[in-house]
Amino acid sequence: MRQFNEDTLTAAVVERLKDAKDKRLRQIMTSAVKHLHAFAQEVHLTEEEWFEGIKFLTAVGQKCDDKRQEFILLSDILGLSMMVCALNHKTAPGATEATVLGPFFAHGAKVYEFDGDLREGCTVKGEDTLVVGRVLTTAGKPIPNATLDIWQAKADGIYDVQTGGEFELRGRVKVNAKGEYAFKSYKPKFYSVPDDGPVGELLRATGNHKMRPAHMHAVVSAPGYQQVITHVFVDGDPYLDDDAVYAVKDSLVGKYKKVNNAAEAKKLGMSNPFLKLDWDFTLAPERGVKARKVIAPSDAVA
Ligand code: BEZ
Ligand code: FE
Repeated sequence: MRQFNEDTLTAAVVERLKDAKDKRLRQIMTSAVKHLHAFAQEVHLTEEEWFEGIKFLTAVGQKCDDKRQEFILLSDILGLSMMVCALNHKTAPGATEATVLGPFFAHGAKVYEFDGDLREGCTVKGEDTLVVGRVLTTAGKPIPNATLDIWQAKADGIYDVQTGGEFELRGRVKVNAKGEYAFKSYKPKFYSVPDDGPVGELLRATGNHKMRPAHMHAVVSAPGYQQVITHVFVDGDPYLDDDAVYAVKDSLVGKYKKVNNAAEAKKLGMSNPFLKLDWDFTLAPERGVKARKVIAPSDAVA
């Protein structure tokens, strides 16, 4: 076959995919080709514009390293990460809802026992916060010995992995035999997604802002239960309705309540008044459902 034009080309490319051994790959590539061709036709893409697109994608790739994952960021601001999350995580009734992983998860964080202090070694001081709660089944029964992977930005809106320092406001928090956990941290603050690369340029060029509402990340895992990758957002945050990556869910908004108790603050080693977040996570039983694999930025670019 030769002599292709805009009416015959798509079918010819799809035809060449028909012998792919992996049927799922064939399905995905067939659909991708059809949609890409339809997109070019719909906007009548010029050669200059497509070259700009290629330059942009090249810059996205060149911005990636073992600490920075510009492609995840691109997927996040296009709503594609949240779309994939929504398609794959229909929350079981009563279970904690899933949301985006984001690019700042890191393996190997320190393990903290009950009452651990994630403020240890943190280079930017924030508002002292005690986070307490339980990990429960959807029937309300405690799940003993679960693990919470916790990470959040410092009060300056920067994650530890962005500055390459030690782990800060990040840890693997152990849940005790009664299904309870407690740790000390700082109140999260709203922050900007990294905007010093091509994705930042795209946000500006399309008149979009770069802010995420304040949140703490959590991955909740327990043997026999579906792992959940989630956030706890801060009630009252100005960006809850306008998250740059579309990740907010009503069920994930928590109240950071002020506690004025000098004796308790002293016992905890926190300033008075301090803040307290009381937050339960709820997991659905595994029942053959494959757990979402947690991808670290370094894994993603390997
Ligand atoms: C985050 O919450 O850490 C995040 C998510 C998406 C893009 C950038 C940051
Ligand atoms: Fe975050």
